[in-house]
Amino acid sequence: MTSIIDLRSDTKTLPTPVMRKAMYEAEVGDDVDGEDPTINRLEMLAAEMLGKEAAIFTPSGIMSNLLSVLTHTRPGDEIVLGSQSHIFWYEVGGASALGGVVMHTVPNEADGTIEPENLRMAIRGKDIDFPRTALLCLENTHNRCGGTVLPVEYTGSISALARRHGLKIHIDGARIFSAAVYLGVPVSRLTENADSVCFCLSKNLSAPVGSILCGSEGFIASARRWRRMLGGGMRQAGILAAAGIVALETMIERLAEDHANARRLAFGLAEIPGLSIQPERVQTNIVLFEPPADFPAEAFIMELKNRGIMLSYMGERKIRAVTHRMINSEDIETCLEHISSVAGGITGKQ
Ligand SMILES: Cc1ncc(COP(=O)(O)O)c(C=O)c1O
Repeated sequence: MTSIIDLRSDTKTLPTPVMRKAMYEAEVGDDVDGEDPTINRLEMLAAEMLGKEAAIFTPSGIMSNLLSVLTHTRPGDEIVLGSQSHIFWYEVGGASALGGVVMHTVPNEADGTIEPENLRMAIRGKDIDFPRTALLCLENTHNRCGGTVLPVEYTGSISALARRHGLKIHIDGARIFSAAVYLGVPVSRLTENADSVCFCLSKNLSAPVGSILCGSEGFIASARRWRRMLGGGMRQAGILAAAGIVALETMIERLAEDHANARRLAFGLAEIPGLSIQPERVQTNIVLFEPPADFPAEAFIMELKNRGIMLSYMGERKIRAVTHRMINSEDIETCLEHISSVAGGITGKQ
């Protein structure tokens, strides 16, 4: 049987042997009462790395983003976020359903940024008829924009604008360590202007479960109450946090390999006739491309799946490939060969 090359997402990464050993040996306690030493250690480590006072371990990135919205806002408030943001597209409308907030989207530019003027126009005035604009949500790296990185200066200036109008700032930093590695800066530079930031342990950092939300002590204390209400208090979850500690200690520098593989893939795809891609835009581990004009994305993905190459559907004309720890440079070459052959119309073309 041919082996599978799974480029659907970096969430497909499995825990490493070192993580499994750390999980086995983890000292644990009841985290709902703050008694799990391994979770406490992970939260302290994460807060320190991101330059925040405190942190809370959550089961998922979606829960971290939701806790942030719940903590920063009141029902009836408005949050401003990019039209391509994960919170808007892929979080089951939770901010509106559970937080009662209006999601006011403004266009994301191709690089994942939001134009300051578009933010300014979205912020409501004091009219009694208006909802209160409470929160700006940024995303770094930006998933639907192809893993693009928000630079330090941009994050600073857009946050300053939001803050002048009384908004809080949250960063959905599911893959923020990729942004830090790409820019060659400590991750705390990317979060210094935000009131809260979350990141995922279970994506490009290879841990099996979990995400972390960071912010001030008061903010995290409130988020902890919300997590409890949502049923996200997890008793002896130090078993999971142990893998998270290994992830933070050993999985960040290696992200550069994933970025190099993504660029190799992107430049290889650019040489395949019929495909449409801007390889120079690839900064981290996400590659977006369009299939040939007469080849629907779904059929293209199915053809590749039959050959053991797994890609994600992002829209009728948008396919996504994500590199990660379990993909090596040979896999990239194999993948390019198969994509080239499918794009060349050997099979499946409609
Ligand atoms: C940018 C971004 N934010 C949040 C999430 C949510 O993470 P999870 O699926 O672990 O809840 C994802 C997942 O892919 C993501 O890409």
